[in-house]
Amino acid sequence: MAKTPVIKISNLSKKFMLGDIEVQALESVSLEIYSGEFICFFGPSGCGKSTLMSMIAGLQPPSTGSIMIRGEDLAKMSTNQLAEHRRTKIGMVFQAFNLIQTMNVLENIALPLTFARISKMRRMKRAENLLEIVGMGKYKDRTPNQLSGGQQQRIAIARSLVANPWIILADEPTGNLDSKSANDVMKLLISLNRKSKRTVILITHNPEYIQYADRIFWMQDGKMIKVEANSHVHTAYAGDKTSKHKKGEESQEDEVPDAAEVKEDNFSVEEANK
Ligand SMILES: Nc1ncnc2c1ncn2[C@@H]1O[C@H](COP(=O)(O)OP(=O)(O)O)[C@@H](O)[C@H]1O
Ligand SMILES: [Mg+2]
Repeated sequence: MAKTPVIKISNLSKKFMLGDIEVQALESVSLEIYSGEFICFFGPSGCGKSTLMSMIAGLQPPSTGSIMIRGEDLAKMSTNQLAEHRRTKIGMVFQAFNLIQTMNVLENIALPLTFARISKMRRMKRAENLLEIVGMGKYKDRTPNQLSGGQQQRIAIARSLVANPWIILADEPTGNLDSKSANDVMKLLISLNRKSKRTVILITHNPEYIQYADRIFWMQDGKMIKVEANSHVHTAYAGDKTSKHKKGEESQEDEVPDAAEVKEDNFSVEEANK
């Protein structure tokens, strides 16, 4: 039986009206993404990458076309179901870290779980576990403004993982970072994809990063102009296509890679190219 894509987009178009002017942000985009893939949406500024990401997150509806997440049509979801989709299936990371300055890093990480039926103690424990995973264990009492940009982005990544989402959407996550911090954030995203087989979509206009993706979706003027597979990348897509993701609550804890696993991860650029 054919495997259900984690994301299936068919003939997706999005138009915006700016006064009297019509902006065609996306035009007839179709794609399928499978569980565990590391995908890059690549293209120049204004080509529609962020619009596509926000639509996958269910933040805005298509003008025409459809978005299916594991076979479920976002257009058929109620407002509440869409909010649930964003809260539990999607983890988002942005160029601006969007952390809350009046909360410490643990509270920031745990924030998306506020509305989940999980005790405060478990929420905090989970946040602490993720803090370790992103290599920030010793900073748990800091507030975001006491951290560097790279450190803040690690916290934002931990926050994106806290509800154990199927898909991580990272929109130019290294755009505000110096090259060393950018490299660290990239390693972390790659490691999350490899170790926990999470589906990661990296949005970028930086050509340096496309080498890490299983597949690159090239965009231009709202269109998907080319899809390219990186044959040298051996990840979930090329090798193990079985999903670790299970439905139901029992999967909450066991899919998070444990801290020890990530600490041992001496992942390097050379390794990515093997
Ligand atoms: N809310 C909006 N209203 C009007 N135009 C928009 C809106 N969001 C995006 N656009 C336009 O859609 C196009 C694609 O934007 P965007 O998806 O942000 O591109 P990218 O992320 O690739 O830089 C651009 O021309 C942008 O100006
Ligand atoms: Mg953008």
